[in-house]
Amino acid sequence: MSNCKKIAFFNHKGGVSKTTTVFNLGWMLASKGKKVIMIDADSQCNLTGMVMGFKGLDELSDNKNNIKDALSYAFESVPRVIEPVECFEIDNRKNLYLMPGNIKFAEYDITLGMAQTLSDTMITLQNLPGAINYLLDKTAKKYDADYILIDMSPSLSSINQNLFMISDYFTIPTAPDYFSVMALESLSNILPKWYKQSLKLQNNEILQDAVYKFPNKTPKFLGNIIQQFNVRNNQPTRGFKKWFDKINEYTNDKFIPALKKESMLLDSSYYIDKNYILSEIKNFNSLITYAQEHNKPVFALTKDNLGQSGHILTSSEGSIENFRELFSNLADNIMRMTDDKC
Ligand SMILES: Nc1ncnc2c1ncn2[C@@H]1O[C@H](COP(=O)(O)OP(=O)(O)O)[C@@H](O)[C@H]1O
Ligand SMILES: [Mg+2]
Repeated sequence: MSNCKKIAFFNHKGGVSKTTTVFNLGWMLASKGKKVIMIDADSQCNLTGMVMGFKGLDELSDNKNNIKDALSYAFESVPRVIEPVECFEIDNRKNLYLMPGNIKFAEYDITLGMAQTLSDTMITLQNLPGAINYLLDKTAKKYDADYILIDMSPSLSSINQNLFMISDYFTIPTAPDYFSVMALESLSNILPKWYKQSLKLQNNEILQDAVYKFPNKTPKFLGNIIQQFNVRNNQPTRGFKKWFDKINEYTNDKFIPALKKESMLLDSSYYIDKNYILSEIKNFNSLITYAQEHNKPVFALTKDNLGQSGHILTSSEGSIENFRELFSNLADNIMRMTDDKC
């Protein structure tokens, strides 16, 4: 068994910074010496685009090194064993790798859904529930990875259910707005349901004989990552504060009790914030455009990347430093909560 930890970044709501956080956190963990593989499990391939740029996406179109093609032996019944993916090595960031996405990955969703619900009776599908886990484990071993960060699509798909069930930990990226509170409400129902389905699969006799074993996992909650809000005097502005309060209230009153019932929480001593907030990441403002242009996190931008001077440059450098500290703390927290050595 490898020691690699899989962390799912999940919210079925889109636009809450799942992809951005996977990239930024992956980069920060790698800069602290951890080997990290980021998985682009969203058919929209935003992470792949963010990391490789459009040029890279073009190059990828005739390249089999992506999550979907790697799984094709299992999903298209080719009698060959799944091979690890040759990951993309991120420029100028040692230790950071990407398992690229594929726009057709969602095509496997229906078959996987059947396998996850009908495998009691359908022996032909027995290798599918454990296939993604096998691919990720094999790839982690090839790279001697410490962390696998899984960027998921904004949906309640069977693929997402599978990714969630095979993860050791999960975090919920969210934003302080009405729709995110609604999303948290449905996650309070869905995540425990997914875990119960996982227990069924873990105990399913037919799956015991599968080539790709379904893992015995209880995904543990690391906390909410709240992002994309404006601040004044280091505090969220009034409009955002109201939704922060609602998220915190909902988390404490509904979400946490629902997870606790299924043992999906870590020991309480791991949570240093009483509202289970893992990080609060304010709006990147104009820095995001430079980050996207240079395929880098905001905190890794250099003076040359910015092309600014005078007080504009001084102000940008101050913000970059703040974001660096913030993501450094987030990475330290992740290492602490996953019992990794800093
Ligand atoms: N802290 C932030 N400040 C400003 N813009 C952000 C921030 N985080 C993400 N974004 C932008 O918001 C959009 C959605 O983010 P993304 O990471 O793609 O979300 P998701 O993966 O949840 O759909 C992207 O255009 C991204 O650049
Ligand atoms: Mg995304």
